[in-house]
Amino acid sequence: MSSAGYLVTLLLCFAYSLAEEKSVIPEPRCGVTLSDPYKPVQIQVNEDADCGWTIDRPSNETTRVIFSLLDLDKSSDCSQENITITDENDEVLGVLCPNSPKIAVYEAPGKVYIRVSTDAKAGARTAYFLYYSVTPDIDLKCGGSVRGYSGTISSPNYPNRHPHFAFCLWHLQVPKNTLLKLSFTEIFIEIDPSCRFDFIALYDGPNTEAPLLNVLCGRTTIDLQTTSDTLTLLFSADYANSYFGFNLQYTALPQSGNSALDCSSDSMTVVLSPEYIDGLGYSPSDLALSDDTCIAQATNPIVFDIPYHGCGTTKKAENNIIYYTNTIIANQGSDVITRRKDLKFILTCELDSNSTVETMYLTTDEIIHDQQETGKYDVSLAFYETQDFITPVPQSPYQVDLNQIVYLQASVNAQDPDLTVFVETCFASDQSDFQGPTHDLIRNGCVTDSTYHNFPSGSEYARFSFNAFRFLNAQTSVYLQCRLVICDVNDPESRCNKGCITRQKRDLSSKGWRTNAVLGPIRLKRHIESESAGSIGEKNEEVVKTDQSNLYVVGIAVLVVNVLILALVLTRYYRRETTYRYRPVTTQ
Ligand SMILES: *[C@@H]1O[C@H](CO)[C@@H](O)[C@H](O)[C@H]1NC(C)=O
Ligand SMILES: *[C@@H]1O[C@H](CO)[C@@H](O)[C@H](O)[C@H]1NC(C)=O
Ligand SMILES: *[C@@H]1O[C@H](CO)[C@@H](O)[C@H](O)[C@H]1NC(C)=O
Repeated sequence: MSSAGYLVTLLLCFAYSLAEEKSVIPEPRCGVTLSDPYKPVQIQVNEDADCGWTIDRPSNETTRVIFSLLDLDKSSDCSQENITITDENDEVLGVLCPNSPKIAVYEAPGKVYIRVSTDAKAGARTAYFLYYSVTPDIDLKCGGSVRGYSGTISSPNYPNRHPHFAFCLWHLQVPKNTLLKLSFTEIFIEIDPSCRFDFIALYDGPNTEAPLLNVLCGRTTIDLQTTSDTLTLLFSADYANSYFGFNLQYTALPQSGNSALDCSSDSMTVVLSPEYIDGLGYSPSDLALSDDTCIAQATNPIVFDIPYHGCGTTKKAENNIIYYTNTIIANQGSDVITRRKDLKFILTCELDSNSTVETMYLTTDEIIHDQQETGKYDVSLAFYETQDFITPVPQSPYQVDLNQIVYLQASVNAQDPDLTVFVETCFASDQSDFQGPTHDLIRNGCVTDSTYHNFPSGSEYARFSFNAFRFLNAQTSVYLQCRLVICDVNDPESRCNKGCITRQKRDLSSKGWRTNAVLGPIRLKRHIESESAGSIGEKNEEVVKTDQSNLYVVGIAVLVVNVLILALVLTRYYRRETTYRYRPVTTQ
């Protein structure tokens, strides 16, 4: 270490020793009036206490009271043991209960009263608060609302010392279906074992009512993440010992899996984790939208902000629902030796007057997998080998014989026996993006294909079947897309109880959570002679073995609108393999 380094260390030790002197915090007796412009106060009471303090500040100033330690008897009931904060008009500003988070902030003009009541259980109770008048000279313009997918937040003046009485509140919002990954590259604020003095409070949600994720102070670095797409960060400093503050880098990451789609009223936003794309053998610069002049806006995370009118987005309107679709396509490049998988992310936003359904899935070489969304419920759709619905089909593509009946089960994974699944609409397409002509199996609950058969539905699942041969002929793949509704079994008004709705008008009033699921492809088993002859075809005949959670049982989330789609697809893959022979099949 250089001599300068030693000097810095020495100074820091000195700074910390100064900080420790702050441990002499006043513990005013019950009933005392506090009239200093600011004061840290440690409250110490025992059982059966009923103790009040008055903070006496002029009415033309705002008094801010910041609690940063709360140690009541956790086993006590709030009605017996609490700290009640009231303003000078006796309006209750707040009540701190034994199980309340330790950070709480109250503001009111003029006087503030703090009253501590404890129950009969023996033992000491502790709380700490700082109060001060928010005068114009200490009222910083800091914090604010931030929307985006990555960025930096730091304390005022960072990397220099933050001002005394700094009080900053940030609200961060990243795209729907993503969460915030937080990396504090530096935290250097006043040290205290319980972070009473200067602190960073992180709330896992849109405001300070959300659960407290963490409270940080001292000198450290830390990585954290939220559970949803919002974070609230409060930075509070007191009247002494200000250091260099903090620096936070945040990025949006998909909430579940590797991709997330957010449909807003004027655009869709896709967030992909860079590691995922790397693992698939591509780099962010290989990716573009249907209009290949539209590329990612950012690479960590990979973000596509896609306008509904532009970048090759297609629009379709049907039954008061508007569907916007686009595709992220990976450029194969000119690499002829190592053939990479043909990669596409298919994105659909369905908007109706009240709601949005996001559907996003990956196809590699025209095989659907990785449909991952988040929402109220996880729903999966899978092929089953037989009508006892015991064994899900373990491979993709699902290779079927001529005339074979295909069994499907849609299930909701919610551990709630009162939930039921209804297959509202299912259709088949020979394209994995369902952009071409489709064939309906069932629409709005009305069966439209003569081979479609509903099995009795049970708690948390719906089962049905149809004859695959109807759609399959040589070189055909079939993809399925289904709109599923999840309802409460006990609700007679739910969509699940309404069956076939024949009128063109969509029944918007019936209740249920709706979501989309996609599955496929189904292909004909190759004929024996082809099998032995077709060694070239063999190489490319990629049967993807998957674990259920990943490929076959496609986990998806029920958002707000219901769509269950089945699609049958003729893949480009087979179109390329034109030398490959299949048994000719007559279609009806
Ligand atoms: C409040 O009033 C007092 C005296 O009336 C004055 O000295 C003080 O500056 C005022 N404070 C503010 C914030 O206006
Ligand atoms: C707080 O405690 C006091 C005294 O036990 C009680 O009168 C009051 O109702 C409690 N407040 C709440 C919100 O329970
Ligand atoms: C839209 O949502 C509101 C509240 O969620 C509901 O009251 C209203 O009935 C809905 N309208 C339609 C057309 O579904």
